Amino acid sequence: MDKKKKGKSKKDKNKKMIERLNEDLAGELGAVIQYTTYAAKATGPYRPQLTQFFLTEVADEQLHAQFLANKIVALGGEPTTNARPVPAAKTNQEMLEAVLKAERRAVADYTQRAEEAEAFGDKGLAVQLEDMVRDESGHAEETERILRDWPV
Ligand SMILES: [Fe+2]
Ligand SMILES: [Fe+2]
Repeated sequence: MDKKKKGKSKKDKNKKMIERLNEDLAGELGAVIQYTTYAAKATGPYRPQLTQFFLTEVADEQLHAQFLANKIVALGGEPTTNARPVPAAKTNQEMLEAVLKAERRAVADYTQRAEEAEAFGDKGLAVQLEDMVRDESGHAEETERILRDWPV
């Protein structure tokens, strides 16, 4: 940690953490929209399985969004209502590739955020964010397997 960071007030540190958690919340809200609309758009002989897969993800991302919104309010912030834009995707393949990209980003973001939370001095937040790294890694792996093994 550099001197500049050390000199920052608790209020400044809270503000920075709230900003970053709000970026994550925007990502989770975007993920809910992404999975909900992709579930509707999934097509072909594997539609039932793909739809089921996407809808199961919605539940996980919604819990992540709920956690982040609560934490932001607890830190004295205002949770964003602006979702990260959902990438355009037409085919099953395009949707799965877009999902994989988003999940990999979530893994990277939460890995970084957990470290920041640790430095921020909030162990509970760090642990929760690490749990979310686990969840998003699972989502990414499942998506990779579908792309690899299914004739989507
Ligand atoms: Fe998530
Ligand atoms: Fe996810």
